[in-house]
Amino acid sequence: MPFAHITGWGMSVPESILTNDDLSKMVDTSDEWIRDRTGIRDRRIVRDEDQSTASLAVEASIKALQVANLRPTDVDLIICSTSTPEHIFPATACLVQDRIGATKAGAFDLLAACSGFIYAINMAAQSIRSGSIQNALIIGSETLSRFVNWQDRNTCILFGDGAGAFVLQASEMPGGVLSAVMHSDGSGGESLILQGGGSKYPASEATLQAGKHFIEMDGKEVFRFATRVMAQATREVLDDSGLELDELNWIIPHQANIRIIEAAARGLKMPLERFVVNLDRYGNTSTASIPIATVEALEDGRLKPGDKVVFVGFGAGLTWGALAAEWTGPLPSEKKVYPGRYRLWARMRSFLLRVIRFIEGVIWGRGS
Ligand code: ACO
Repeated sequence: MPFAHITGWGMSVPESILTNDDLSKMVDTSDEWIRDRTGIRDRRIVRDEDQSTASLAVEASIKALQVANLRPTDVDLIICSTSTPEHIFPATACLVQDRIGATKAGAFDLLAACSGFIYAINMAAQSIRSGSIQNALIIGSETLSRFVNWQDRNTCILFGDGAGAFVLQASEMPGGVLSAVMHSDGSGGESLILQGGGSKYPASEATLQAGKHFIEMDGKEVFRFATRVMAQATREVLDDSGLELDELNWIIPHQANIRIIEAAARGLKMPLERFVVNLDRYGNTSTASIPIATVEALEDGRLKPGDKVVFVGFGAGLTWGALAAEWTGPLPSEKKVYPGRYRLWARMRSFLLRVIRFIEGVIWGRGS
């Protein structure tokens, strides 16, 4: 049975920075309050219309393929985890598939909120372990700023935009994804919810008036839930993988609030230094937060091949989960490939397919 290795990684965040001081000019808050209660200092926010969940996802994906030295045309499966998709449908993963030129990939979106990246890696790893696919591209991408009520100080201080991506590949070499646990409790769904624009409350003037297109959150309830499940899920995944807590090099948690991460550290009796934390600079980027923190830990040399790592997260749903892995890095390959160069070709291919579809429509009649 092949092992599923994480062989590539990339991230993309918008350039524009929104500071706590900027927010204090928009709502009744202060830098001191936000830093004290959350640990967040800055977050990145998409500004121009060209930037979106799909565009951030594409940038992160190309970087991940570059690290893995894998052609887009060799990708079998793309899973895009997101709660802020480009559209309700088609899936954001399909837009990425088209833009990077992943001609043979299946593609779908996965919604498990901030736990989504863990769920998605697990789904791809199981497909690789079963032998059904060889190479997967897993993306976590969000533009939460487009769904935040910028007049609600309870939520607007927390969230940021960004994307991260991993490449997973099959190899007979032992290691890679070791085990995962996934949980949910729909009875807590109302504590973090975006009601408008779905089938229950399709967009209308009334839903707009009621602000149903904004994120609504019971912060205290989510906080209590998060502090309960983080240490619990970490212990569970360690039990499943046969790893001991002191064998772990790093825990990479969902970056929501430093106080939640501190509670997890206390619960596990692990020093905070063994947790990768970057929420001070990005805020809560939901499903993108774990891959973004991972990429930073790799780029500054903290996370190295052979390290044992646990990803742990929680989010709307309610959902939570954890995944244990032995870090691998790129698999040996003979030839250097340039995934970024496929983009121009992908654009031409996409254009050509649209033209063919148009001509077919003319020939066969659009209405029949
Ligand atoms: N600035 C100043 N004061 C504020 C602000 C603010 N931005 N927000 C709330 N307050 C006030 C409140 O009104 C309250 O005032 P009161 O005592 O006069 O009523 C006081 O500060 C304390 O408010 P609390 O809600 O008790 O503050 P708390 O310490 O719980 O922190 C927070 C709030 C940061 C939201 C915290 O509860 C939290 O982090 N919860 C988890 C949220 C989270 O992680 N959500 C994302 C989940 S992942 C996903 O799926 C996207």
